[in-house]
Amino acid sequence: MNEREYFELNKKLWNDKVDYHFKSQFYGVEQFLKGESTLNEIELNLLGEIKQKSLLHLQCHFGLDSLSLARLGAQITGVDFSEKAIEKANELKYLTNLNAEFVLSNIYELPEKLNHTFDLVFSSYGTIGWLPDINRWAKIVAHFLKPGGKFIFVEFHPVRWMFSDDFASVQYGYFHGGAIVEEESGTYADANAPLKNISVGWNHTLSDVIQALINEGLGIENFQEFNFSPYPIFIENAKIDENKFAPKGLENKLPLVYALKAIKH
Ligand SMILES: C[S@@+](CC[C@H](N)C(=O)[O-])C[C@H]1O[C@@H](n2cnc3c(N)ncnc32)[C@H](O)[C@@H]1O
Repeated sequence: MNEREYFELNKKLWNDKVDYHFKSQFYGVEQFLKGESTLNEIELNLLGEIKQKSLLHLQCHFGLDSLSLARLGAQITGVDFSEKAIEKANELKYLTNLNAEFVLSNIYELPEKLNHTFDLVFSSYGTIGWLPDINRWAKIVAHFLKPGGKFIFVEFHPVRWMFSDDFASVQYGYFHGGAIVEEESGTYADANAPLKNISVGWNHTLSDVIQALINEGLGIENFQEFNFSPYPIFIENAKIDENKFAPKGLENKLPLVYALKAIKH
């Protein structure tokens, strides 16, 4: 399969998930519409004051985090390649009357669609695993930052992706470089959703991510690892604190999320 075919499979997978995610308790659209933020402490701490700042949100799904950022006063541009996700993001934008722009694009093709730069670029939780080339991703991040602009990135830890879904065995080597093609049933936000799709993912090591950003002239200002996920995404979740989850039996044993802040020199 070539890259275009991989993207087509993933786009179908994500388009199919949207309706189930939109209705799920996991995403909490109802609470969001009542005014709750969907952002977590990790990214809020790294973002700091964002009022009046222009912010590009890469792989924004149906826009809950983008619109939560808009509520904090930032001028948001959210990007995703799923037509269904962008449609729902626009629906939420009109329902909340918030100021944001949503762009339908594969992030690798974004320079052909947007021609301005931003104070901040943001991406979080479950994004780069869908991208085959981390160096091309870093080029996109750098391309859209103003000089002095900051990149805020929060992602599931690559160590997490070494394990089988039930954490019973190590399924992939940390340095596994190729495409991981799997059949997926249900979705993390609704295990009972009647979905069956092929997913194509890539596991990017921490050093690959950090070096790719350094190569594009970004200076890492802050780097952190966490022993929890703010979302209950495991088959069996142990709640270690409010909004802090780990796989049951492995509490405090594994890095599950990492976060970084980088500046474009
Ligand atoms: C896990 S979600 C986004 C993360 C966000 N934290 C959330 O859960 O709402 C991943 C998103 O990446 C998008 N995506 C995957 N590959 C993409 C690509 N090459 N270009 C643009 N969007 C992509 C999918 O459509 C999906 O909306």
